[in-house]
Amino acid sequence: MVTTQRIKEFCQTVRLKSTQVFIVAGTCLLTLLVTLVCIGLMTRYEVENEVANVADVDYWKDKVASTQKIWYDKGIEELNEALRSPSAPNYPRNVRIFLVQGIDGADLAAYRFPARDLSQGNTNFAWDYFPHLARLKNSCSQQIPCQVGSVPRALWSGIPLDRVPRFQPDCRESINETDTPLSVLRQAQLVGLRTGFVTTQRITGSTGAALGNTNSNYECDERMPLGYSKSGCQDIARQLISGETGRSLNVIIGGGRQMLNSLVPKTNSDPVDELLCDSSDGRNLLKEWRNHKLEESKISPIKFEFLQRTDELESLNASNFDFLFGVMANGDLSGNAKAPSLKLMVERSLQVLKKRGQGYLLIVEQFIKSDMDKRMQLQILNETLVNLQPDRDTLTLVLMTNAIYPKPILDVSEETETIIHLADTFNEAEFQIQQRLHQMPSESLLFAQGPKSSIFHGVQKESFLAHAISHVLSRSKTNP
Ligand SMILES: *[C@@H]1O[C@H](CO)[C@@H](O)[C@H](O)[C@H]1NC(C)=O
Ligand SMILES: *[C@@H]1O[C@H](CO)[C@@H](O)[C@H](O)[C@H]1NC(C)=O
Ligand SMILES: *[C@@H]1O[C@H](CO)[C@@H](O)[C@H](O)[C@H]1NC(C)=O
Repeated sequence: MVTTQRIKEFCQTVRLKSTQVFIVAGTCLLTLLVTLVCIGLMTRYEVENEVANVADVDYWKDKVASTQKIWYDKGIEELNEALRSPSAPNYPRNVRIFLVQGIDGADLAAYRFPARDLSQGNTNFAWDYFPHLARLKNSCSQQIPCQVGSVPRALWSGIPLDRVPRFQPDCRESINETDTPLSVLRQAQLVGLRTGFVTTQRITGSTGAALGNTNSNYECDERMPLGYSKSGCQDIARQLISGETGRSLNVIIGGGRQMLNSLVPKTNSDPVDELLCDSSDGRNLLKEWRNHKLEESKISPIKFEFLQRTDELESLNASNFDFLFGVMANGDLSGNAKAPSLKLMVERSLQVLKKRGQGYLLIVEQFIKSDMDKRMQLQILNETLVNLQPDRDTLTLVLMTNAIYPKPILDVSEETETIIHLADTFNEAEFQIQQRLHQMPSESLLFAQGPKSSIFHGVQKESFLAHAISHVLSRSKTNP
């Protein structure tokens, strides 16, 4: 009996042990399996992302002469880049758009050469390496006469040029607010993205006016008729600073002090621009911005900074701030010899905009007037883009255009400048001038890099840009 008992106990122990052994062995096997699967996936991932070498990329090798073959093999490098460009399913979290006004395809081709010395061959600009490219049609070339002041509104609201609502002469009759078209910038704000607008022009220029959803023919009070303001109308500068869009902007940097304040310091390096609107109603919208932010910070803790000098911008630890407002010149930045570089402004803006768990939309306008050195301006942009840190979550767009006529007010507009210039050259009547504008070959070039850059392809309408941004950012994850 004792023996049977012992055997039983022994058996039980052994069975227990065999169970343990089984568990251990099972675990080992499972680990091995998981490891194998992982290695498999990794290898596949690496193979997919590896740059194929010359041998992998087939072409009709035996149908080319040996003198040709050198060039075909060299060309394979570029071909590889094209083959490699991923059509990844992911969407960008952030979008940054560089709008370059005053440049067309011919300029780009010419200035790719480092100097006039053609022997050095040509080099690429940073955007020449972007994998995708679209052309945007200039809607002004579809219409006579062209409502040039509305072009930026068409571009940033995604509405065809001829459907952009006209400004009302009496603001009490202004269109139903819920029906007012919103710029993509405002749309981004409404879904909780951080937003920024940087310009080398004044912030109240036509791009700022359109992005800020302002609704006026007047950039500041100077030429506004008395009856106009009595009927409750406001100029662009005031609407921009007190409007919802302007107030929600995390970053605004540009020129335009003379539109925002009636009393501005005038120096040799930063004179008041006589050709632009100059406020005279005693306003201090800079102070109003500050006061509003102070009020806001009593309700929720926000950090904001307002600055007017390059050295202040340079030394700012911008990542600590929620809001940054920089007014760096009386008129356009080109009028201030001490204005900050595009690179610095973009760098600081991104520091403010990049916050964990929140996407952003940054729109940067580089305004190149006809009398500026285009080559130098393009190099400034090249440097700014080269300086950007590569970012897997960010779609970068560079829009080169000659088609957006810069100022909303006809009496002081760049458009008039063009017309006057054309009239000087051709001695034409208004109708012929409009006709010439109509015929201006001015399709804009849109370079794209980053997640979903592949949707920018072919020849599109101007309004495509706003639709595309709205689509790609609709997937941007934000934390409430
Ligand atoms: C753009 O910048 C890069 C990097 O500094 C430079 O190699 C390239 O030559 C520049 N392109 C042009 C056209 O100046
Ligand atoms: C504005 O338009 C919306 C929708 O079209 C309408 O529901 C609303 O009643 C209108 N408001 C006014 C004040 O007309
Ligand atoms: C900027 O501020 C952050 C957060 O307060 C800090 O971690 C960082 O070191 C600062 N950078 C500089 C250059 O002072």
